[in-house]
Amino acid sequence: MPASPPAAPAALAQSLHFWARNASNESALLRASLRLGLFDALPEEGAGEPLPVSGLARRLAASERGVRALVELLACLGLARQDDAHGYALASGTAALLRDTALRARLDAELPWWGPDGLLDEAVKHGGPVDFEGRRWDVPGHYRALFLEPPPAASPEAEAFFDCFARGAPRMQVLVTAARLGVLELLARRPHTLPELGAATYLSTDGLRLLVELLARLGIARADGAAWGLTDEARKVLEGKALAYLVRSLSVSARYWEALGRLDETVRHERYILDLKDAEVSRRFYADNSQQLTAVFASHFQLSVRAATTVSRTHPLEGAAVLDIGTGSGVWGAAFARATPTTHVTYFDQAVVLEQVRRNVAQLKVEDRARFWPGDLFTQDFGTAAFDVIILPQVLNVLRPEDVPGLFARVARALKPGGVLLVAEYVLNERRDGPLEHLYFGLRRFMTNEGDLLSFSEYARLLSGVGLTSSVCLPLPTQELVLAARPGVALPSELAPHARPTPAAA
Ligand SMILES: C[S@@+](CC[C@H](N)C(=O)[O-])C[C@H]1O[C@@H](n2cnc3c(N)ncnc32)[C@H](O)[C@@H]1O
Repeated sequence: MPASPPAAPAALAQSLHFWARNASNESALLRASLRLGLFDALPEEGAGEPLPVSGLARRLAASERGVRALVELLACLGLARQDDAHGYALASGTAALLRDTALRARLDAELPWWGPDGLLDEAVKHGGPVDFEGRRWDVPGHYRALFLEPPPAASPEAEAFFDCFARGAPRMQVLVTAARLGVLELLARRPHTLPELGAATYLSTDGLRLLVELLARLGIARADGAAWGLTDEARKVLEGKALAYLVRSLSVSARYWEALGRLDETVRHERYILDLKDAEVSRRFYADNSQQLTAVFASHFQLSVRAATTVSRTHPLEGAAVLDIGTGSGVWGAAFARATPTTHVTYFDQAVVLEQVRRNVAQLKVEDRARFWPGDLFTQDFGTAAFDVIILPQVLNVLRPEDVPGLFARVARALKPGGVLLVAEYVLNERRDGPLEHLYFGLRRFMTNEGDLLSFSEYARLLSGVGLTSSVCLPLPTQELVLAARPGVALPSELAPHARPTPAAA
């Protein structure tokens, strides 16, 4: 739980990664848990019988899936405890903190600020308060109070809890605003005085001063005389393509802001603020997502090439027919297409997404062995015994849990008898209390009315149900591969070693 500005580049790199991706998730988790009464509903460890998710959901009159998404994360963070029967209790340290009435009052006072804090862009543009839901909010004053003039610290434990609860999301917002308004890029180019920054961005001097002072608190900016530039650590961390990568990652996280701020409503009523089951919302979200994924094509290609090499050890890919469902940027199918000169790949996704896939596939010079298949993966019949390999890369997490068995059944039917199914997913550990990054990703899938993350044994059970009784789970660096096939079909038992993609692809 990072509370103070980092000093060394490695620490700053780690902090930036956390602030850009998960700080707002963590703040939203804690705020929603408080708002819903989840902290109070959990028995304190050692003082009462741990409660299963279903019991907690009943007690809170909330969605079981939503409560599970929260308590699994609380357990992973050490704030709650899970027993062997999947009962949950509040860790005694957390219970003691929440009995502190002064801390409780500070936490309660932060709850209404999520929406206004999301308007930092506007506050920086005008250098003053902003309107939100019919009221004026002193957003600059709130950021100043949080970061620049914080009250004397309470106990370190209370301060760390307050920091995650109250400052995590605003930290991300500072970065989002600095990226959106072009300030981060200007600072990275060379030091600028405030008037120079103002001339380049048309932002108010007061707003700019606040923004650079906030960036300084995060260890990113510093003043040298009248000129503001990046700190040495930030310059090292953000050199090359790293700044563009950070900006993209911030823009993805920013899209979840409102939904995270109203997470308690989603957990209580399954009311989805960013509902990706709405066709138009999904079309826009994933068209943008496909472009984001294209931007990181090279790094994902390393994973998909390794997966294709792994599969080819037991399933030679010469002349093979491969189906890539929910292809996104095309990065998985394309890796299989490049495995041999005769592998044919069908790229399946929403029509709007396939436009970008066509460009990516052409760039890799595998368009002559490509078929583009627009459709709806919730209903599409993929045929019978038509494919040697079917890939489901980061797609199951898009489906609500009740839709997964149906998709598995259609996929199993479309596989040739000796074929292999490759699922690339964030697979949870068997206790479902980690890894942390996976659980945060799962929280976002829940709040967008999408899927559930599963453990390997949960996948294996579902796959057995459609006749794919043989399965293995192989960990890639950032996600896992689950390979499945019918009985008697050989599957690789380990990953192929990492191989560098050819220059044309990178
Ligand atoms: C999380 S992305 C994964 C992209 C890609 N496979 C990857 O790993 O980079 C999920 C993909 O599923 C697609 N998708 C979502 N709902 C769909 C639907 N109803 N029909 C077809 N594709 C859909 C999205 O367009 C998106 O490209």
